[in-house]
Amino acid sequence: MLQAEKAEGALLPEYHRATPECPHPERWHMYDSMTAEAEVLEFLYTLVTTIKPALVVETGSFLGVSTLWIAKALKANGFGRIISCEFDPVVFAKAQEKIASSGLADWIELRNESSLEMRIEGTIDLFFSDSDMPIREAEVKRFLPQIRPTGIILMHDASSHLKVVRDAAVKMESEGLLSCILLPTPRGLVLAQRREGRS
Ligand SMILES: C[S@@+](CC[C@H](N)C(=O)[O-])C[C@H]1O[C@@H](n2cnc3c(N)ncnc32)[C@H](O)[C@@H]1O
Repeated sequence: MLQAEKAEGALLPEYHRATPECPHPERWHMYDSMTAEAEVLEFLYTLVTTIKPALVVETGSFLGVSTLWIAKALKANGFGRIISCEFDPVVFAKAQEKIASSGLADWIELRNESSLEMRIEGTIDLFFSDSDMPIREAEVKRFLPQIRPTGIILMHDASSHLKVVRDAAVKMESEGLLSCILLPTPRGLVLAQRREGRS
């Protein structure tokens, strides 16, 4: 959080280490090491305007930057909402402040709770898993029955260097739960769809 405050919204070259799938991370940009890469934020925006979700669920709001990019895209669509959870109360309060002053608060429901306890009503069109890396598998499995078969699941931090999220995605694919594409970004991004119910 200190790093994000110090940077004051300035873009820096991405500094996560090079991986075989992404040998030049410095070609990407970041605000800080927690917020998704700037290019991934743009991707989130475009994905939302492309698939036009009614309900987006995000785990791990941090300071609300990805939440705001998604909300901005929902506003461009003219409908939809995002529910985002952050379990750290101090971080949650910061995100709440940022969202309150963004002009996008009507599109966002920010919750101070854990993704492993959060209850969601209805069908999820876009699920963005960006919380604590070791719990991502549990998180995706928990919400999978509620994710629309034609909807999209994104798992951030899935690079071969970070490993745990990538392994979780590949495992869920081998279990027949997901079909995955591993996007070669600096921190790694899995783009997936559930297998069950797909026609
Ligand atoms: C990588 S950051 C999220 C970045 C944010 N999505 C963005 O791109 O702007 C991960 C956040 O998840 C939070 N977190 C960790 N475990 C969580 C859980 N079980 N439920 C909700 N939030 C969690 C952390 O406190 C941290 O703020």
